[in-house]
Amino acid sequence: MDVHLTIHGRQGLAGQIYRQLRAGVMDGRLAPGQRLPSTRKLALQLGVSRKTTLDVFEQLIAEGYLRSRAGDGTFVADAMTRLAPPPPKPATSPAMGAIWEAMEGALPMTPTVTPPAYDFVGGVTDKGLFPFDQWRRCVSHALRVQARGRGAYHDPAGEQELRLAVARYLAFSRAVVSDWQDVIITQGAQQALDLLARIALRPGDVIAMEDPGYPPARIIFAVLGAQVVPVPVDEEGLVVDALPANARMVYVTPSHQFPLGMPMSLERRLALLEWAQRHGVLVAEDDYDSEFRFEGRPMESLKSLDTAGVVAYVGTFSKTIFPELRVGYVIPPAPLGLALRRAKQVGDWHSCTMTQTALAKFMLDGYFAKHLRRMHKEYAARRTALLEHLRGDLAPWLTPLPCAAGIHLVAVLRAPHDEADVIRRAAAESVGLYGTAGMFASEAPRPGLLFGYGGIGVAAIHTGLGRLANVLAGQHRGTA
Ligand SMILES: Cc1ncc(COP(=O)(O)O)c(C=O)c1O
Repeated sequence: MDVHLTIHGRQGLAGQIYRQLRAGVMDGRLAPGQRLPSTRKLALQLGVSRKTTLDVFEQLIAEGYLRSRAGDGTFVADAMTRLAPPPPKPATSPAMGAIWEAMEGALPMTPTVTPPAYDFVGGVTDKGLFPFDQWRRCVSHALRVQARGRGAYHDPAGEQELRLAVARYLAFSRAVVSDWQDVIITQGAQQALDLLARIALRPGDVIAMEDPGYPPARIIFAVLGAQVVPVPVDEEGLVVDALPANARMVYVTPSHQFPLGMPMSLERRLALLEWAQRHGVLVAEDDYDSEFRFEGRPMESLKSLDTAGVVAYVGTFSKTIFPELRVGYVIPPAPLGLALRRAKQVGDWHSCTMTQTALAKFMLDGYFAKHLRRMHKEYAARRTALLEHLRGDLAPWLTPLPCAAGIHLVAVLRAPHDEADVIRRAAAESVGLYGTAGMFASEAPRPGLLFGYGGIGVAAIHTGLGRLANVLAGQHRGTA
């Protein structure tokens, strides 16, 4: 049978023929067992010498793509059936595929290419206020340390000085008392949650998490095959009485419930610890936004109240420095320490040592504490500006939820306003708003807007929210 090959120019003729025949075999256009034209016929057809086609066939036979039968001809090798094209895709994807396909919409914080002028996106910090001069000194120090190193793999749990700096910082700021050796450095809180789920859950196991809750955490648990059971929250945080009795792990954000913002009451914290101890369940405490507290006395972390050893404490530098740093940490209950280190090693061996050394110096030299104090003041001013509007000109449409900490807050949108519609209209006025409906796993999400103030200054907050008031007033007039 004829084979359709194309020759361009007179250079590398054998290579051109070889690549096209090989590709035809690999992608199944030349089926296993199919007879090829003779080398003489092919040479004539392509206008090349017979030696060229002979050389190509010999090479493809030697490599196993073709086979020759003496006196009969040359055929596509049967072994090539295993490279046959995949069967057509079924109409519905298998469950795991569907999870990956649904992911884009479930990660709402992915920044747009050109952010709107007045962007209230959550999960970002103000890099303009970060002390890059001091950071540069720390990075230079880390480079000098690197230059003296052996060029070998390091401890999966992280660099000693950073683990020490984190342990000291947590003892002081969160009353989390730990030995530096209990601290495991991760690629952000996200990897800490991934590792915890890997060591604590098997496919099909139940993990309970707040509803609404943090979508990237929900995704991690789901892709690992766990059954994620949403548990409602009220004004005191996670409703402990609603926890499923068969849960093997609970994921919570007690300092600043994600996304609604209320802290978990002390009573609930104690109830959760008691429940977890009774059921032998691991509690992953995500303390992601605890550093910036604006009202009231700091709430004890679950970890600091945990006498039974059920809490894995997870923290991050994404809010205090910036998310691109990708540094977080986890302090697991002692018996899980070894498995967690091994899981970290299996996943990526260890986090970048240069970043760790720079960050350790940044903390141990006092720059981190100074930066936190400065940012606390700045974020307090932004939060005040935001609340001024929410309690003032925006009050007819939006009600802020009580929230004492963190760098975002949520306001509930009054009926009959539609979350998506308000977001669309605000975008037309260069105001970036983000809804909370997608963060609910339940059927009945409450419409609301998440106002992040990590990346927007006081003046821009006033202008952006002034524009939002006009949008809502216009919509109101339009729907009246
Ligand atoms: C609930 C919650 N946990 C953790 C993080 C930080 O994650 P990472 O340390 O992976 O950047 C965020 C960031 O927005 C968050 O909202």
